[in-house]
Amino acid sequence: MIYTEKDKKFKRYTVTSALPYANGPVHIGHLAGVYVPADIYVRYLRAQGEEVMFIGGSDEHGVPITIKARKEGCTPQDIVDRYHKVIKESFAELGISFDIYSRTSSKEHHETAAAYFKKLYDEGKFIEKTSMQYYDEEAGQFLADRYITGTCPHCGNDHAYGDQCEACGTSLNATDLINPKSALSGAKPVLKETKHWFLPLDKDEPWLRQWILESHKEDWKTNVYGQCKSWIDAGLQPRAVTRDLDWGVKVPLEDADGKVLYVWFDAPIGYISFTKQLKGDDWEKWWKEQDTKLVHFIGKDNIVFHCIIFPSMLHADGSYILPDNVPANEFLNLENDKISTSRNWAVWLHEYLREFPGKQDVLRYTLCSNAPETKDNDFTWKDFQIKNNSELVAILGNFVNRTLVLTHKFFEGKTPRRGELSDLDRQTIAEIATYPERVGRSIETYRFREALAEMMNLARLGNKYLTETEPWKLYKSDPERTGTVLNIALQICANLAVLCAPFLPFTADKMYAMMNLRAMGWQDAGNADLLMEGQTLEKPELLFEQIDDATIEAQVNKLLETKRQNELNAWQPAEVKENVTIDDFSRMDIRVATVLECCKVPKADKLLQFKLDDGTGTPRTIVSGIAKYYTDPAALVGKQVCFIANFPPRKLKGVESQGMILSAEDKDGRLVLITPSQPVTNGVNVG
Ligand code: MF3
Ligand code: ZN
Repeated sequence: MIYTEKDKKFKRYTVTSALPYANGPVHIGHLAGVYVPADIYVRYLRAQGEEVMFIGGSDEHGVPITIKARKEGCTPQDIVDRYHKVIKESFAELGISFDIYSRTSSKEHHETAAAYFKKLYDEGKFIEKTSMQYYDEEAGQFLADRYITGTCPHCGNDHAYGDQCEACGTSLNATDLINPKSALSGAKPVLKETKHWFLPLDKDEPWLRQWILESHKEDWKTNVYGQCKSWIDAGLQPRAVTRDLDWGVKVPLEDADGKVLYVWFDAPIGYISFTKQLKGDDWEKWWKEQDTKLVHFIGKDNIVFHCIIFPSMLHADGSYILPDNVPANEFLNLENDKISTSRNWAVWLHEYLREFPGKQDVLRYTLCSNAPETKDNDFTWKDFQIKNNSELVAILGNFVNRTLVLTHKFFEGKTPRRGELSDLDRQTIAEIATYPERVGRSIETYRFREALAEMMNLARLGNKYLTETEPWKLYKSDPERTGTVLNIALQICANLAVLCAPFLPFTADKMYAMMNLRAMGWQDAGNADLLMEGQTLEKPELLFEQIDDATIEAQVNKLLETKRQNELNAWQPAEVKENVTIDDFSRMDIRVATVLECCKVPKADKLLQFKLDDGTGTPRTIVSGIAKYYTDPAALVGKQVCFIANFPPRKLKGVESQGMILSAEDKDGRLVLITPSQPVTNGVNVG
């Protein structure tokens, strides 16, 4: 039973999840924001016996893909082939239960998207406009979307793209950017005339206002509603749906050579073309019947596209339904820093699966319980460990394990008979009955964290019940009562299997297997009659295991190493200092000398003591802090170095140092001695 659809009962559910760009693997930010909640939602609906279609696939067009191909010297097709495979396989391994996971570079998709455009074109739904667009003369190419960067006119972010500012989420036109720069050559682009087709969003304002701001005021999330409102209030502008690019769906018109559909025009049509691939002739009811509920799971950077632009496209066609809800999430950060593909600051799904085999549900649990539903949130490895050890192991795993172990110990692994009930038993059974609705309502209203917490409360109830009844002590004096207690505890286990399945599908399967039960539906839960008296149970295996400190530390170190690499990559030469005169410089007495002897200074890790032939006939001693970088000091003997001769002598660890040897500090902090490129006479000046 669907608890929240009192007035309107839907017959089927079309659930889409944002199509990830196939220009990199999927990370925990994608999962927490989109795929884990979407998967929980569809698994729940299926458990409710509803007809559901869950659509996923790769978004294989768009400038980020061509930019990456250019960087790697391969074709865009190579890039999308590579990442489509990685993404598809890792989703499957995590148990994201798409009914289809397709791709937008497929022929079927190109046909559907082109036909969609053509129909709107033929019906006069576009404005044809010749306008001035940025063009890179060096690269000989128009600069659409991410090919151009500049300063966002709304928030001042210097790295806004031609189509969107990721800092403030505003959708932009390239000509809105302040100080535009070509991402191809870095050059300042010029404006050049070109023809494009525009969706007249301005004409949609009245019905969009009515549809979103009035009829969805109550049921859309406030972050989604708020973004739509500020967009609509700012006044909608016509939006170009074609681009001068060569990677994408070709514009299906005679006079449109070198033009493709804008990626945000073709990608959402992917939801429709994948439906056709999946359902064949039966596809239309999933998109056109009023009793179909359409729900888009997305991240917050996709809100305007799914709430305004795609609905406007659907409305322009006229035969489609509009989304009933667009439960967009905010962003997940990683260890207090924004997740970033280019900075490699992420936990990548395919790596997690390799490094934590069999622990899919631990990640699903952590990401759901920490999902950025109402505000940005943070993933930390420490928190991952705590959630595993103190929640999954200590609450859920522990309850199920204790119950099954005791049943094996006292009742040969058979569900014992339930005898006379105590008040506590009755209360507990009554409480069990409330859980399917508690969890279900939260899922139906897209509050997945709350739903997960409710499910765990049932496990807590189980633990509390065992603590109060103490069946491990009771058996000696009252085996019959022990049987009743364990029967009820087992019924809680069976209920938990049903209720945890949307969140933790692998765990649910293990639980069903241990209890010799077939997977059950939502309506089966909520009572204490899921296991028959005498039903044989398998030997229990642990559902979860502790994750130790060393494992967590290894992950944290991996991130620290990434941080170090990023700092190195970001290194830039220092600002040039204030000007000096030749006189200033000539006061420095820099000379060349040859190393006669070199050894470590005792009791000083950093210092080397040099004895130099500086041409005066009297050897000069200099102490230099480079011991870490020259671990074989004797090897320096015979090399020439440069030193400052007119530094006043000073004592270092008891050795008098008469000057300073010159070295260069590399970007990683390493010190490297400066040596003349050819041998010169000791004592000559450097200048
Ligand atoms: N590729 C887009 C992104 O990652 C999402 C596309 S969703 C669709 O932000 F609607 F276009 F399919
Ligand atoms: Zn901005």
